[in-house]
Amino acid sequence: MSDILLRGRLLTFHHAPMDAEDKAAYSYIEDGAVLMRGGMIAASGPFADVAQLAGDTPITDHRPHILMAGFIDTHIHFPQIQIVASWGSQLLDWLNGYTFPAEAEYANAQHSRAMAGRFCDLLTDHGTTTAVAFCSSHKASAEAFFAEAAHRNMRMIGGKTMMDRNAPDGVLDTAQSSYDDSMALIADWHGRGRALYAITPRFAITSTPEQLALAGALAAAHPECYVQTHLSENHDEIAYTASLYPQARDYLDVYESHGLLGPRTLLGHAIHLKDREIGAIAATGSHPVFCPTSNLFLGSGLFDDAGLRARGISSGIATDIGAGTSYSMLQTLNEGYKILQLQSQKLHALRAFHWITRGNAEVLGLVDKIGTLDAGSEADVVVLNPRATPAMALRMARAETLAEELFALQMMGDDRAIVQTYVAGRPQKKAA
Ligand code: GUN
Ligand code: FE
Repeated sequence: MSDILLRGRLLTFHHAPMDAEDKAAYSYIEDGAVLMRGGMIAASGPFADVAQLAGDTPITDHRPHILMAGFIDTHIHFPQIQIVASWGSQLLDWLNGYTFPAEAEYANAQHSRAMAGRFCDLLTDHGTTTAVAFCSSHKASAEAFFAEAAHRNMRMIGGKTMMDRNAPDGVLDTAQSSYDDSMALIADWHGRGRALYAITPRFAITSTPEQLALAGALAAAHPECYVQTHLSENHDEIAYTASLYPQARDYLDVYESHGLLGPRTLLGHAIHLKDREIGAIAATGSHPVFCPTSNLFLGSGLFDDAGLRARGISSGIATDIGAGTSYSMLQTLNEGYKILQLQSQKLHALRAFHWITRGNAEVLGLVDKIGTLDAGSEADVVVLNPRATPAMALRMARAETLAEELFALQMMGDDRAIVQTYVAGRPQKKAA
């Protein structure tokens, strides 16, 4: 059926490399191969070795392009694909002016289904094979999202957003309906095929304490599910949260006191953190998620990657479409690099490519399934052309090392550098 032997320059990671000298952190094989069988990676390594195992499996020769594990986006909003690049405001005005009206349309199941197809196309066109998505507050949007992902056999994580106050009626649920809908969606979708569920209270401002308590009850009843929300993105958001939750020690405590923290919790943004909050994130094993293009676009602030890492915290990295401005995890790395530059921090190319593959898989606890090209993993593979544009080809003519080539790819690359994306062994990108 979909068995294919891919040939190309193979790059896969074993742990996070701090610099190019950390050769044990990755395997790079100039003439490499990945044998995809039944949607899984049956073998990978030097072409000569893998070809022996492959028998008469058809070969797709991608040389001189690079084969890497498909990219993973750990924070994205499915119902925001039509409001990317909406002008002029910071977080709370942007939500009220653009986001909530767009999300209200997802009450319509037909609209949700049409947009779910476009959403998945955009992801794979940009080399992303797994995303952790906020759907709208409407059950229909989560159903459309999971049905489309199942149709394509994508490993996708998502959840119906829970929000029962401080937003227009068209996007509000109630504490009870959000609990009931989330329960039903978990029963229908979590662990079905490649789907996984994320319990999704939007953020403190749009949830009553009653709703957060029910979200905590869901998380306690379903420890196998993820929890995703937003934390400390913007100063006005933090002040408003403090006024709504006067008993909370700080913003994080709103989630902590409702039992929402743990190793499967993803905290979008986490920019303006107090020391106590950082300690509690570390102690609970929760994961901040760095959203570079979004943080710059909304003027939210500079994510302290090195500071969090020094406290033993592992962060994800993500687009945060539609406050983020690019679906490309390469462009996400580009802007992430610059945010760290402004703080005298470094994002080396090898660590960068680790982050959007194995690193994000580790954050999700899925490294045995996605994020590498190791035998036994699911066959999600991206094929990258570092010379995709004339400007990139000119630049690459002077690249002398793999690290240099990857760095220029991270800074200059986008969907034009994605030659092909395989999901569970099946090519997704239409021929140009
Ligand atoms: N905080 C609460 N909701 C959102 C959202 O949709 N996008 C961003 N960037 N921040 C949020
Ligand atoms: Fe977000």
